[in-house]
Amino acid sequence: MKIITLSSLAILILLSLVRIAPTFAASSTTAAQITRGKYLVEEVAKCEDCHTEHDEKGQPIPSKKLRGAILPFKMFSQPPVWADQSANIAGLPGWKREDAVRFLMTGLAYNNLPARPPMPLYKLNREDAEAIVAYLKSLSPIDQGKN
Ligand code: HEC
Repeated sequence: MKIITLSSLAILILLSLVRIAPTFAASSTTAAQITRGKYLVEEVAKCEDCHTEHDEKGQPIPSKKLRGAILPFKMFSQPPVWADQSANIAGLPGWKREDAVRFLMTGLAYNNLPARPPMPLYKLNREDAEAIVAYLKSLSPIDQGKN
């Protein structure tokens, strides 16, 4: 009787580990991912060119980092569909992680529509998209942008 109880307890523990493990792996964000995401956002994709407000000298304003901006430029030949304001992407408010990853991998948002130009239609690989989302999610939408 005791042996049965012990082994069934062991099975229960094992089962719960199996159930927890994939969930944990899928939602865990590593420091390396955040570092890579910050590098991709700041130095490769230059998201701040459009998503951070700039001062009169054209310098990004640190306290407004990635909070969205009125775009300071237009095109010579303005396309009919054009957004003159970018979104606040610090913390990715309103975005589920997986939707944001898909958006950066396909260009399609959670409503299956692309964002309007000049938001680039990124088709990143999963690794890069996940790193960017990990970094953006690590930012507070309302902090003073010290990151
Ligand atoms: C050339 C300018 C530009 C660059 C560079 C840019 N964005 Fe955007 N982004 C925009 C504009 C403008 C919008 C608003 C589009 C709209 O309202 O349809 C936008 C919208 C978004 C949205 C919201 C989309 C939606 O439909 O709600 C996300 C998320 C986003 N950008 C993430 C990023 C990330 C991450 C990067 C860098 C990897 C980046 N953007 C680089 C201009 C830009």
